[in-house]
Amino acid sequence: MNDQAEGLRKREPRLDDITGNASPPRIISVTSGKGGVGKTNVTANLAYAFSETFGKRVLVFDADMGLGNIDVLFNLRPRWTLKDFLFEDRKLSEVLIEGPAGIRILPAASGFEELTALTPEQNLKLISAFDELESDLDILLIDTGAGISENVLTFNLASQETLIVVTPEPTSRTDAFALMKVLNRRYSGKPLLFLANMVRDRKEGLELFDLVSRVADRFLPGLNLSFAGFLPQDPSVTQAVRSQKALAEMLPGAPFSAAIRQVARDLLSRPPRQEVSAGIGLLMKRLVGREE
Ligand SMILES: Nc1ncnc2c1ncn2[C@@H]1O[C@H](COP(=O)(O)OP(=O)(O)O)[C@@H](O)[C@H]1O
Ligand SMILES: [Mg+2]
Repeated sequence: MNDQAEGLRKREPRLDDITGNASPPRIISVTSGKGGVGKTNVTANLAYAFSETFGKRVLVFDADMGLGNIDVLFNLRPRWTLKDFLFEDRKLSEVLIEGPAGIRILPAASGFEELTALTPEQNLKLISAFDELESDLDILLIDTGAGISENVLTFNLASQETLIVVTPEPTSRTDAFALMKVLNRRYSGKPLLFLANMVRDRKEGLELFDLVSRVADRFLPGLNLSFAGFLPQDPSVTQAVRSQKALAEMLPGAPFSAAIRQVARDLLSRPPRQEVSAGIGLLMKRLVGREE
């Protein structure tokens, strides 16, 4: 009944598409120093807010290899992953699945170790497939793993902006700092957006940001860190996880849902600088290490 492809086809072409002036999609990776701080919930709910509230065309790329679970959160059962596209000749359209509010999801639960060892043909296949997606997309959100493994770093270096999810737990703070240190060494000036999660209120979120940014000012010269907002500790988040729904969809009036819409709104009102808007083609080239 709910034909997924139908939903995808129904989108009206925008004036940009017709005039050929479509701007490349915005690419935001969602990451953290420590696991279990809310990345996947942030990604899913942000995707929902971008799509449902702000009418953006969103693709979520589940790049957390070990613990990828965007599909579980949306109660979807992917048949294929990016690996099947790359190595088993599945079409990208077969691999993409549709979630709520028309969000598209690219499951990539495994196989990413192999991305750096692609043949030139596979490389080209990946890059051109993403180039094609580009014109049909406003925002690409990447749910990365936690920490400073090479795989996670690669996604965070390749995206235009990195949302770093931090909670008041001291270990979350120190691990976020370690991540920012490595990112800053590899790509000084990269736009990093600090998102305080599981805090009481905006005040606590700002205090957390101040704490981290004060140390960063001292020890990480050149760090480009700004405050992206806060998300309250909200018991409904866990309830929504159990019901396998994004909270913003299940309970739009919950404090967390209102806060995520505010974060989405703020992000949209502060687009990245033009020079870092390089598109998915470049993201892919960076991922496979073929950037000229
Ligand atoms: N703002 C919040 N309030 C309450 N619980 C939260 C909040 N954000 C995340 N959680 C809970 O924290 C746990 C980990 O979240 P998850 O998004 O899976 O983290 P990660 O992807 O970083 O590992 C989940 O059980 C989720 O319900
Ligand atoms: Mg996760």
